Amino acid sequence: YKRVTVKSLVEMKQNGEKISMLTAYDYSMAKIVDAANVDVILVGDSASNVMAGHETTLPITLDQMIYHASSVVRAANRALIVVDIPFGSYQSDSKEALRSAIRIMKESGGHAVKVEGGAEIKDSVKRIIGAGIPVMGHLGLTPQSIYKFGTYTVRAKEVAEAEKLKEDAKMLEKMGCFGLVLEKIPAKLAKEVAESVAIPVIGIGAGNGVDGQVLVVHDLLGMTHEFNPRFLRRYMSLYDDMSAAIGQYVADVKEKDFPNKNEQY
Ligand code: KIV
Ligand code: NA
Repeated sequence: YKRVTVKSLVEMKQNGEKISMLTAYDYSMAKIVDAANVDVILVGDSASNVMAGHETTLPITLDQMIYHASSVVRAANRALIVVDIPFGSYQSDSKEALRSAIRIMKESGGHAVKVEGGAEIKDSVKRIIGAGIPVMGHLGLTPQSIYKFGTYTVRAKEVAEAEKLKEDAKMLEKMGCFGLVLEKIPAKLAKEVAESVAIPVIGIGAGNGVDGQVLVVHDLLGMTHEFNPRFLRRYMSLYDDMSAAIGQYVADVKEKDFPNKNEQY
């Protein structure tokens, strides 16, 4: 497989080819996602919710992100692997941000990092890019700031927040970010941002006018069944299928049906 790079993503935008991006946090899932030709695998800090059962993305640690990322790196041959820098590992100062990014690159083997925010984290973004580490931005609904927002509802519906988002997108591009995630903002605004920058803009709940889409793979597969935002398209009902399969296994054990003659030595 020819590895997807930050350069190929920009070319895809130029050629009008939409970019597919999905999360993965472990080896087995990343194998499947990579083999399906997903362009970018995001080792998202949504692992905090999906893998560890936390209510928010805030508790996951840098060590835990590196563990998830290194598992994904061992699985993926084709996809570009982007790793979220977790809450608390880049906001204090730019040197700490660079240290965190370097740890992710060295210890996991990931290819790029993602950080949430605009002007507030300017110095950190600059310093990480200055060290040769590709950075992806993330604007709109940034879950690491959930306690500031108070809810997970659509962001940037008001003019002031929309204007700041547009400025932040331009600033991140100018500083050298290779791409941008826009989460849960009006489709019209997301399209405007995508058209205003040369770097690829990947949306989640940001409509069809952007350069690519990202989802949490467990949501797409229907493994998580209590999370039902409008932007989510489910391609399977794995929660139901897995529950039925596991329930059947339990029944087979109880009824002494499993193992049968051919399933023993
Ligand atoms: O952590 C995550 O899964 C993300 C995507 C939803 C963009 O940041
Ligand atoms: Na994230």
